[in-house]
Amino acid sequence: MMEPQINIAIAGIGNCASSLVQGIAYYQNGGSNEQIGLMHWDLGGYRPRHLQVVAAWDVDARKVGRDVNEAIFAQPNNTQVFCDHVPPTGAVVRMGKRLDGVAPHMADYPAERSFMLADGQREPSQEEVVRVLRETNAHVLMNYLPVGSQQATEFYAECALEAGVAFVNCIPVFIASDETWAKRFRDKGVPIIGDDIKAQLGATIVHRVLTDLFAKRGVRLDRTYQLNTGGNTDFLNMLERSRLKQKKESKTEAVQAVAERRLEDENIHVGPSDYVAWQKDNKVCFLRMEGRMFGDVPLNLELRLSVEDSPNSAGVAIDMIRCAKLALDRGEGGPVEAPAAFFCKHPPQQMTDDEAHIATEAFILGEPAPKSRVH
Ligand SMILES: NC(=O)c1ccc[n+]([C@@H]2O[C@H](COP(=O)([O-])OP(=O)(O)OC[C@H]3O[C@@H](n4cnc5c(N)ncnc54)[C@H](O)[C@@H]3O)[C@@H](O)[C@H]2O)c1
Repeated sequence: MMEPQINIAIAGIGNCASSLVQGIAYYQNGGSNEQIGLMHWDLGGYRPRHLQVVAAWDVDARKVGRDVNEAIFAQPNNTQVFCDHVPPTGAVVRMGKRLDGVAPHMADYPAERSFMLADGQREPSQEEVVRVLRETNAHVLMNYLPVGSQQATEFYAECALEAGVAFVNCIPVFIASDETWAKRFRDKGVPIIGDDIKAQLGATIVHRVLTDLFAKRGVRLDRTYQLNTGGNTDFLNMLERSRLKQKKESKTEAVQAVAERRLEDENIHVGPSDYVAWQKDNKVCFLRMEGRMFGDVPLNLELRLSVEDSPNSAGVAIDMIRCAKLALDRGEGGPVEAPAAFFCKHPPQQMTDDEAHIATEAFILGEPAPKSRVH
């Protein structure tokens, strides 16, 4: 019997794409550890080995023109190599449409830590990207551009829409959660999952689960912060505060949505905090929650979480891709609500993580979603 296949196209071959592509190779053959690190081995009939990269775009001179299996290890990518035997994919990284993908301040840093534009390369038109998506029979387009790439994200979203390719938006530019865009995907019958991917076990999910715990245990949350540091290009890019507006909103709302009552703006601070070069792709989160329990008696909680940033998101991306393909197989267009709520920080419809988990499992089985507590 023919194995099923999911053809993926990727915009932005940075650290997250590296971990995803390494992961597809790592889980290729299974083995005794085949389920470690995955939420689903089999998701609706699709296994990790059924994913294959068929097209890719980037704007960095060290990546354009190389097979994806080499480009993922090119500078400035600096995530952990957990699989060094990634076979050639046959997909050569094409020059992307630059637009606002690369922030001016990136030029102030050494090339090995920053972006290096492929200046001599001709940028593609929308028609050319659409043609490649069609010719390669791509099913899902992953958006892995830097934070703040509003125009570039809209460009690739437009291409996916035109080509009838499902769009998985891993970044905090609001497309799935923007009603005008959501309607366009709905009207065209094209699935979209977004926005802003939650890591497998990252700061957001931990902060949300603890916030939900406070609510369930009757503890009033008065104040909280979540400070994050890292040393990859994602953190370097986010030093430009003007690119951060939607990132901060996405991360803050992810916590506000599960609080028993909304906190005043001055009592909640969530966001990327600084770039520490030597941390590379290691991200450290410092979290503090202050509240009051029985008898108005105060308590506080401090937590430090250290994770390798990009494999942490790839563990989720591998499920988002499969859910997007399931929606495509079923002819469902528009935002795929349950997986978006489970896998993203800023979905069209927020749910608690328990509810989103149950609803996602129901979606995978093709069953109706149970009612949720929505904020
Ligand atoms: N790691 C996580 O857990 C996580 C979680 C949530 C969101 N994200 C988001 O995912 C995105 C990708 O993260 P990353 O760590 O891979 O970033 P990265 O900086 O390593 O990669 C971004 C890539 O995009 C390329 N690029 C820039 N402009 C482009 C354009 N116009 N067209 C095509 N390519 C372009 C860059 O050259 C680079 O290769 C970021 O926005 C990040 O905030 C990551």
